[in-house]
Amino acid sequence: MNATAKKLVAGLMALTMGASLAACGTDVAPAGNAPTQESNNEAPADNKGGDKTVGIAMPTKSLERWNRDGEYLKQQFEDAGYKVELKYSDNKTDQQNNDIQGMIADGVSLLLIAAIDGSTLSQTLDDAKAQNIPVIAYDRLIMNTDAVSYYVSFDNYTVGKLQGEFVKKQLDLDNADGPFNIEFTAGDPADNNAGFFFNGAYDALKFYIDSGKLVIPSGKKTFEQVATPSWSTDTAFENMQNTLASFYAKGEILDVALCSNDSTALGVAKAITTDYAGGNTPIVTGQDGDIANLRNIVDGIQTMTVYKNVNDEAAATLAVAKSILSGETPDEGLVSSLGADATYDVESYNNGVKVVPSYLLVPYVITKNDLQKLVDTGLYKWDSDNKYLESTAETT
Ligand code: GAL
Repeated sequence: MNATAKKLVAGLMALTMGASLAACGTDVAPAGNAPTQESNNEAPADNKGGDKTVGIAMPTKSLERWNRDGEYLKQQFEDAGYKVELKYSDNKTDQQNNDIQGMIADGVSLLLIAAIDGSTLSQTLDDAKAQNIPVIAYDRLIMNTDAVSYYVSFDNYTVGKLQGEFVKKQLDLDNADGPFNIEFTAGDPADNNAGFFFNGAYDALKFYIDSGKLVIPSGKKTFEQVATPSWSTDTAFENMQNTLASFYAKGEILDVALCSNDSTALGVAKAITTDYAGGNTPIVTGQDGDIANLRNIVDGIQTMTVYKNVNDEAAATLAVAKSILSGETPDEGLVSSLGADATYDVESYNNGVKVVPSYLLVPYVITKNDLQKLVDTGLYKWDSDNKYLESTAETT
């Protein structure tokens, strides 16, 4: 992490945690260097924001991570001297279009958008383009438009791959006899990321599925068959209940519930806890490091989550936005100043009209044994019993 990112993280920590977290982890600036809340209110030395307002469109407050994303983005852009117009659109595509139209009418200098449905924004973004407002697709790619300039996200395929490889290692698939039973739960078909997550996981396990060492008793092996609209916990719960009732009612063993993210893992784990008769504890995967899921990991109900540090994602997005707003054309050269490990990718993300240049950060696996790593980011803290994690952010 470079000095700017350290400063941003330290500033956020100072604002959200007060002075009490002097003993924070290795990834953040030492407490002695952290700006106080007072000094943080002054415009930073590299303040280039001037009068510029950045419009930030987030999908929904109903999924934990977007609350964190919105907060970190707002904080970091404001600390860099920008004004921020932040809107959540309740997972409704019409509302997101209206919210973005409102930002365009307000004359924002740049739009950051985490799309609800990547394919529904083309007309609105034509308007943005007509007014020379650059657009960064945040976390989820925006499809079918040439108005999107950059994409900042994590390596989405790797998220799924990490889940698949985790299962491979846990079951020792190369050496164990098996066969093992697995069921997949994927994400929202309107979210371009969801297919990448599913494919990454499936590809990592395909060899064992093809050879019969991994069996899918429900037979649901395509993305379409296991997708979960809106990443809904309730839908994932109902789908898993149905799968358990149809294919595991006679005590058949479920070894793995491969879930693409934490909101779906929450529903799947609940179904397993209430309706599963097999007696063992299936491996349950996830993604995001949501607080409820980290509790489940401590309690042994979920096995892992793929963690994406969204404070780093916000810092990387700020770096790209700053560069664009300074009249530069960000490219590979920006990678070293993003504040986190990342790659510049000009091949993987074709939105149907163009390949969108992408900055992709690196996700990693968290299990029960690694929870302290999350505390070390400064974004989580142990609760008063030192048992579960809590967020240090204000809104979650
Ligand atoms: C994806 C995102 C994931 C997860 C999911 C549900 O687009 O990359 O981290 O949060 O949406 O909101």
